[in-house]
Amino acid sequence: MSQTEHTILVTGGAGYIGSHAVLALKKAGYSVIVLDNLVYGHRELVEDVLKTELVIGDTNDRTLLDHLFATRQIAAVMHFAAYAYVGESVTDPGKYYRNNVVGTLTLLEAMVAASIKKFVFSSTCATYGIPDLIPIPEHHPQNPINPYGASKLMVEKILADFDVAHELKAVCFRYFNAAGADPDGLLGEDHNPETHLIPLVLLTALGRRDEISIFGTDYPTVDGTCVRDYIHVSDLATAHVLGLEYLLKGGESQAFNLGNGLGFSVREVIEAARKITGQVIPVQECDRRPGDPPALVGSSDKARMLLGWQPQYTDLSSLMAHAWSWHQKRHT
Ligand code: UFG
Repeated sequence: MSQTEHTILVTGGAGYIGSHAVLALKKAGYSVIVLDNLVYGHRELVEDVLKTELVIGDTNDRTLLDHLFATRQIAAVMHFAAYAYVGESVTDPGKYYRNNVVGTLTLLEAMVAASIKKFVFSSTCATYGIPDLIPIPEHHPQNPINPYGASKLMVEKILADFDVAHELKAVCFRYFNAAGADPDGLLGEDHNPETHLIPLVLLTALGRRDEISIFGTDYPTVDGTCVRDYIHVSDLATAHVLGLEYLLKGGESQAFNLGNGLGFSVREVIEAARKITGQVIPVQECDRRPGDPPALVGSSDKARMLLGWQPQYTDLSSLMAHAWSWHQKRHT
């Protein structure tokens, strides 16, 4: 079968990482259907920018899924749809388990009933909790410290059981910190509410916020602020196409880290933003944010070796420059 004969269902394709994956799939010649409930997704991204079919609905809606799978020839599912606010998951865990776990289970059961057995899953480095080893390898123990990470780990365990019982093959991608924007400026990061460091720093540079808070300056890191592994969203998207192709060629279920292997502190991110934007970015030093591990940096050697993944935008400045172009266009 050629790529054009493959239709891929992308849940959450109206969101940040999902929309970049839809773009990468289309560039690789796949036909795509997006399923999104539009709670956080952007309808115009799918319909106007990506010019892709959008089904508005929820992964918890089994009737809708059965209808979709019965009427369309879907070769595989890429599953991005999830709630992803770590802090909210602590205060409202039921929301996260219902959407991220029960919704995914409903989707998987509908897939098995329709004999669709290839699944690419958005997991997270938050499944590791506080790591004992940096850079974190995939075989590191997974002990999440918040319900968001726990919900993703539960799905990883469900997928392992579905492989045994139903031969459903899954690639789980454990993302580190997704950032940046499509280098051609078509897509970018647009969360509401926005809680992530890089967009908040850039919104401060644009004058839409007064200052950027630094959550914690007493961590055991290079400058006392948290260290994260920022990975360009377009590199994440490319990995998804490679993971899909691996499954379509008959690959076994696997989990892969997707990161840069390089850590940057909060202060380093702010400094890089000052250089790229040429703006004064006032900071306020604050207490630690609950639930933040001091450092999260991953080893992505497995994805490089098994999938041939080669991130293109590994320096913080190009990632930041793409995000800056997007935010300037979006907000001015
Ligand atoms: N930070 C600040 N000020 C801010 C926002 C963030 O100092 O205004 C700090 C955070 O404390 C953290 C770092 O910047 O140390 C990065 O924070 P983000 O909120 O951008 O990202 P997180 O590392 O908290 O979260 C990301 C993903 C989650 C995922 C998590 C895994 O967004 O979905 O990584 O740890 F679960």
